[in-house]
Amino acid sequence: MTKLIVFNKPYHVLSQFSPEGDKTTLAKYIDEPEVYPAGRLDYDSEGLLLLTDDGVLQHRISHPQGKMVKTYLVQVEGIVKKNAIQRLLKGVKIQDYMASALAIRPLAGKPGYLWKRVPPIRQRKKSPTCWLEVDLNQGKNRQVKRMLAAVGHPVLRLVRIQVGSWTLNDIKPGEYKILDAKKIKKNSL
Ligand code: URA
Repeated sequence: MTKLIVFNKPYHVLSQFSPEGDKTTLAKYIDEPEVYPAGRLDYDSEGLLLLTDDGVLQHRISHPQGKMVKTYLVQVEGIVKKNAIQRLLKGVKIQDYMASALAIRPLAGKPGYLWKRVPPIRQRKKSPTCWLEVDLNQGKNRQVKRMLAAVGHPVLRLVRIQVGSWTLNDIKPGEYKILDAKKIKKNSL
């Protein structure tokens, strides 16, 4: 039976089981046989990472052609103005491709439900930051960070909160839930 794990990846954890230097890996948190990440999050990104033992489902979730929508909470340096948002929606050139966001929602501040990062972000005193919710369906490497850097707003914190219709709900950093086969079918169609 297909197994799907919804994991809340903490900051400074690699999206892999195999060791790499002295970095913490998924092996510290997930003790399930034969599951592999469907997509990845950067070492310093947090939030929703799906893992499965089903190759077809893994491909459907992680392959860019699947166009699965992923939603990120992003804290950036500076205050993002309307014209920067327009540029991100229209598309910015990153290396050899055009990257665009499906939607960007400026937030009034850090969402109340979001946990504190340990350690906290490094922030210069007095320099303002702001929070955005960003929807993407492209999934290139480090895409959110590269897009925001391209419009002059380096990313300070990045948390994935949704992939397709899977969300973190109340799963805390370092914890996971295993979904049953019925739910997987419903969500992945
Ligand atoms: N975009 C990024 O820049 N980093 C991630 O970890 C995920 C999306």
